[in-house]
Amino acid sequence: MQEKIIKAIEAWNNSYSPYSKFAVGACLVLKNGEYILGANVENASYGLTNCAERSALFQAYSRGYRKNDIKELVVVSKNRFSPCGACRQVITELMNADCDVTISDLEGNYYIMKVSELLPNSFSEEDLHE
Ligand code: THU
Repeated sequence: MQEKIIKAIEAWNNSYSPYSKFAVGACLVLKNGEYILGANVENASYGLTNCAERSALFQAYSRGYRKNDIKELVVVSKNRFSPCGACRQVITELMNADCDVTISDLEGNYYIMKVSELLPNSFSEEDLHE
């Protein structure tokens, strides 16, 4: 199995998902070779839950990395799934459009989407200007 998927499974193991029992792990691969991991972190006030993709991206940005430092994103769950709308919005802003997003199950069966395919016609910084 590819190392980036193994790393995403490592993040999956750290998921805090007592309510949905749906664990998700994410691994950002940086151009410098570093891996930055994120898991979904739930809350008894359900709406405060943070998804794995956003946990990883916010971690990277909090450390000072920016979109040009990021090569790709890998997301894993028990079964392959489709990333949520909130994460698609955040991924679209925080990663470059030509980057790969790999969505895998725990056995390493995956499919790949380009960031540009995640959210056509998304709200962006440009919409904030008249
Ligand atoms: N979840 C993610 O971590 N990423 C997604 O793209 C979809 C959903 C999490 C949120 C919640 O903890 C659980 O999966 C069930 O919705």
